Amino acid sequence: MEKIFHPITQRRLRADAHIRELTASVRLSHKSFIQPLFVDEAITEPRAVNGLPGVEVDTASTVLDTIEGGATSGANKFLLFPVPSEKKDDNFDFSFATSVIRSIKENFGADVWIASDLCLCSYTMHGHCGILNEDHSKLINHKTVEVLSKYASQLVIAGADCIAPSDMTDGRIGAIRGSLDSLGFDTVSIMSYSAKFSSQFYGPFRDACHSAPNTKGLRNRKTYQLSPLNINDAIASSLRDEREGADILMVKPAALYTDVIARLKQQTLKPVAAYHVSGEYAAIESLAEKDLVNREAAHLEVWTALTRAGADIIISYAAKNAKEWIDKMEY
Ligand code: PBG
Repeated sequence: MEKIFHPITQRRLRADAHIRELTASVRLSHKSFIQPLFVDEAITEPRAVNGLPGVEVDTASTVLDTIEGGATSGANKFLLFPVPSEKKDDNFDFSFATSVIRSIKENFGADVWIASDLCLCSYTMHGHCGILNEDHSKLINHKTVEVLSKYASQLVIAGADCIAPSDMTDGRIGAIRGSLDSLGFDTVSIMSYSAKFSSQFYGPFRDACHSAPNTKGLRNRKTYQLSPLNINDAIASSLRDEREGADILMVKPAALYTDVIARLKQQTLKPVAAYHVSGEYAAIESLAEKDLVNREAAHLEVWTALTRAGADIIISYAAKNAKEWIDKMEY
């Protein structure tokens, strides 16, 4: 008699959408998303961002509509990037940022959660994330930390729920925690950009925030942001920030660094956030514009990958769509 070949099949778990849905090992929820917001003091009308369809730079007044729209569609947690109209190299004025936070809190109170990005790159004329020495060959760590701690204090007094330092200087988390605690804001959290790589993929963001480095001295951010070639540094820097008091650790960019997310997740009990950055978002959008991918499905696939890698929180320019897209996701 002829022998019938019975391979061990895994395909039963793929047989229809019900069993695929039932047996999924990853679940997405819009509740884990944060929507970035750009607010520019120098504009009177919202401005489109090159490469980021669906995202606009707001004015201090239109940002309230953007937040309202987000909250209505299920996105109530935000990461704010304030862009001041005046660039300086020292003695910065943070009053625009604080006034935006104050007005958001006056309008929405506890209905929304506002993290404020903490960095100097949109404040400095040279576009670097901190204060440079005279010939612009070096970032001066201690001076930058001092200024950032003051900035953080003003932001929490204005009502920020979380401070998200993205500058990558050393010692900033400990210093900021100290300042916040001494003011009595011991329950305001710190989300550290703890594994932030020096990346090509920040291009559209720098356009939105006018924050690209532009000096003959330091030409890029490689002396303070992480090298994509060094995962050990990413883990060590993140665990250092955790010891200094960071409540949430972040990996950025995200989709190209899922190995870092997975490894960090194994080494910390803190929540890990993944920032799907502007260039990563723009890459999907430009494929979608050419009809080469389905926009929604492509974003959902990236979010799935980040969640599978271990991300607890996802920062995405499409966070405002997360509820709608996840609810009607096809399994
Ligand atoms: C500022 C900052 C950057 C981003 C977030 N905070 C840019 C940079 O470091 O040059 C990038 C975010 C994005 O590309 O979406 N330090």
